[in-house]
Amino acid sequence: MKKKKKNLTSILDLTVSEINQIFSLTRKMKSKKSFTTALKGKILGLVFQKPSLRTRISFEAGMYQLGGRVVYLGPGDAGLDKREPVEDIARILSGYLDGIVARTFSQQTVDNLAEFSTIPVINGLSNLLHPCQVLSDIYTIKEKKKTLKGLKVAFIGDGNNVCRSLIYAAAKLGINLTIVVPKGYEPGRDVVKKADSELMKSGSKITVTNNPFRAINNADIIYTDVWVSMGDENSRAQRLKDFKPYQLNSVLFKKAKPDCLVMHCLPAHRGEEITAEIIDGPNSIVFDQAENKLHVQKAILLMLLN
Ligand code: CP
Ligand code: NVA
Repeated sequence: MKKKKKNLTSILDLTVSEINQIFSLTRKMKSKKSFTTALKGKILGLVFQKPSLRTRISFEAGMYQLGGRVVYLGPGDAGLDKREPVEDIARILSGYLDGIVARTFSQQTVDNLAEFSTIPVINGLSNLLHPCQVLSDIYTIKEKKKTLKGLKVAFIGDGNNVCRSLIYAAAKLGINLTIVVPKGYEPGRDVVKKADSELMKSGSKITVTNNPFRAINNADIIYTDVWVSMGDENSRAQRLKDFKPYQLNSVLFKKAKPDCLVMHCLPAHRGEEITAEIIDGPNSIVFDQAENKLHVQKAILLMLLN
């Protein structure tokens, strides 16, 4: 019987043991340049409705390093739901490719691609989630702090796609996460609710607060992201006003522990969500995060496409 394909549309698609498998494969691949023919003959399609530097190039480079090839379909190419229905595109691409990475405006589009294709579908960012980013981030945290259980992570800014994926990863892996957001920008009760059973199993705690100073003083990691995500451009002026007190700057960071690490998924806007002295300072690990996208995503490709 044909093996059932596996998707990565959300971190909730993975068990803790699968996440650990991805991390252990990442460690192996990062330290040795083997696996160069592991995906020989496979073709990955990148179906992107939004721009990308890191996700696109790390998936493309990763696929080449594993002996496979890629086809990139930008916003004007596949025409998801514009030129033809997502369901048809999913069926058609399944006949040509071995896997799809999709970057979409709506999570529903990724979910539909996953449902109607017979090949693995990987979420390369949607309005709701950014699972590959956060898996790379958690791997980076583990590299730096050695352990995840009981760590205190504070996410400051918008309760956006990165924040929501962090919630799921934290809930699964026993990380205590405090989300510091202005009123009205919370990640959504339904999202936190979906993490409930994982929280019960891991024993970690998710707290949402509007007070920027509350979460900072005992955090091991402070993570921030842009205030205006792709697709939110129409509310830019209002957002810049609402998020101003939540800037990660030296006044706020003075309250942090001396070994507190600073994370950002990038691209960053120095002077908006974070100041230059913090993102370019000694506690910042943003470029380690960016590099690890390559290694972790290679492990994801091996797990799903092989
Ligand atoms: N962090 C991230 O996903 O970057 P890109 O938007 O450049 O892919
Ligand atoms: N939250 C950001 C992440 C970019 C990688 C966005 O969706 O634009």
